[in-house]
Amino acid sequence: MGVRKSVTAAVVVGLLATACTSGPESPSVTASGGGGAGIGADGIGDPYFPRYGNGGYDVSHYGIQVRYDPKSDQLTGRVAITAAATMPLRRFNLDFTGLPISRAVVDGQPATARQQEAELEITPAAEITGEFTVEIDYAGVPQPIKAILGEGGFLHTDDGAIALGQPESASSWFPVNDHPLDKATFDLAATVPDGLAALSNGTPEGAETADGWTTWRWAERAPMAPYLATLVIGDYRITSSSHKNRPILTAVPKSVPAGGPAETAMARTTDVADFLETQFGPYPFESYGGVVVSDPRISYALETQSRPVYGPSFFRAGGDGTWVVAHELAHQWFGDSVSIGGWQHIWLNEGFATYAEWLWAEHDRKISVQSQFDQVYGVMDWSVPTGDPGPANIFSGAVYRRGALAVHALRLTVGDEAFFDILKTWTTERRNGNAVTADFISLAERVSGESLRPLFDAWLFGTTKPPLPKP
Ligand code: TRP
Ligand code: ZN
Repeated sequence: MGVRKSVTAAVVVGLLATACTSGPESPSVTASGGGGAGIGADGIGDPYFPRYGNGGYDVSHYGIQVRYDPKSDQLTGRVAITAAATMPLRRFNLDFTGLPISRAVVDGQPATARQQEAELEITPAAEITGEFTVEIDYAGVPQPIKAILGEGGFLHTDDGAIALGQPESASSWFPVNDHPLDKATFDLAATVPDGLAALSNGTPEGAETADGWTTWRWAERAPMAPYLATLVIGDYRITSSSHKNRPILTAVPKSVPAGGPAETAMARTTDVADFLETQFGPYPFESYGGVVVSDPRISYALETQSRPVYGPSFFRAGGDGTWVVAHELAHQWFGDSVSIGGWQHIWLNEGFATYAEWLWAEHDRKISVQSQFDQVYGVMDWSVPTGDPGPANIFSGAVYRRGALAVHALRLTVGDEAFFDILKTWTTERRNGNAVTADFISLAERVSGESLRPLFDAWLFGTTKPPLPKP
């Protein structure tokens, strides 16, 4: 979603029309346009993943309707996309892997859809300019996506499914412009056999049952990067209430005994969010929550917008799983509200989320941030540059732990007051937008009034151990 703000209600099939605002567009964040005269490019221009996303248009809203039957693994879907062309388009691409399309309509007219590997090429009846709508019907058995870390995309589980993954996953269950540069609002209606839950991002909009099927409705009204969209289907114990006038909904599989470590950690979601607000500024979204899954293939947690998904391994008897809650909730500010302008900038998400674990441990368990920094600083391998780790290393220690070291090095250099001022200014000015490393450095210099380029060069881009900063 770019500067355009309007949402065409008519195409949001039976769902809610939503209003949205966009954050400041960064001058250093650009999406590439064409792949030739009138042809939208098959990638958005990310040097790390050239085929992710597409060029030539900007989505403002996805209205998604899916029906899933765990017995046959069949997914039937319809997506209604509202977008704006950024150039006259005779043809454009969406990202979509595997499922056959039965109907494609652009601005109410039948369009031609051609599927090639992970790309869906749409040729409308007439050239598109300005705002347009796309509707696509599809059905089949969704497949996982080859991921850098663990399994990604749409996974079939014992009693349902989990759609989850980074740096991409959405294209395994709906046609999408699958890159964080194109954020959009979402409505989802997911129909599953009666008795199962279908959990997703944002505000719960109710559920209704007919003929043995239940339709669960969700609305995410803040712009969301597509990889942050999730769908978890299964037999869940749901807890819902409200906090600071926002709905909070958490879910744990019924197969996990009630009142165990997963529920104990989920129950602290708002404690953690309230603490992080004191560090990062106001919580950026309209709802809170978390979903714990039990499938052992989910060996990670993901910061799916407003409602992170946690794998089973984080919550063990006798352990304290709140560190991962602090990590995923920190991403609501760093990654979800302020999203990266390209995957090379992933430390802006993971460095800050890891730093939030240290802040939370200091707050909750009196383990000082400085002691965590000292420990990691002593053992870090400095060979991979945090600010440009390469596509194979976007989830490496160079991004997470070395990223957190860089954050603390900034704090030691500018002092606590300027440091927290930088963080809060960042989350305010960039809210609902995109940003890159150079934007953060400029903002840190502006707020602190110090020249910080040598500091960031050493901590983010150097390949040898940087000296400790002198305050
Ligand atoms: N971003 C996630 C986190 O740090 C971790 C992650 C990396 C992940 N790659 C993933 C999660 C792939 C799911 C799928 O919290
Ligand atoms: Zn993370």
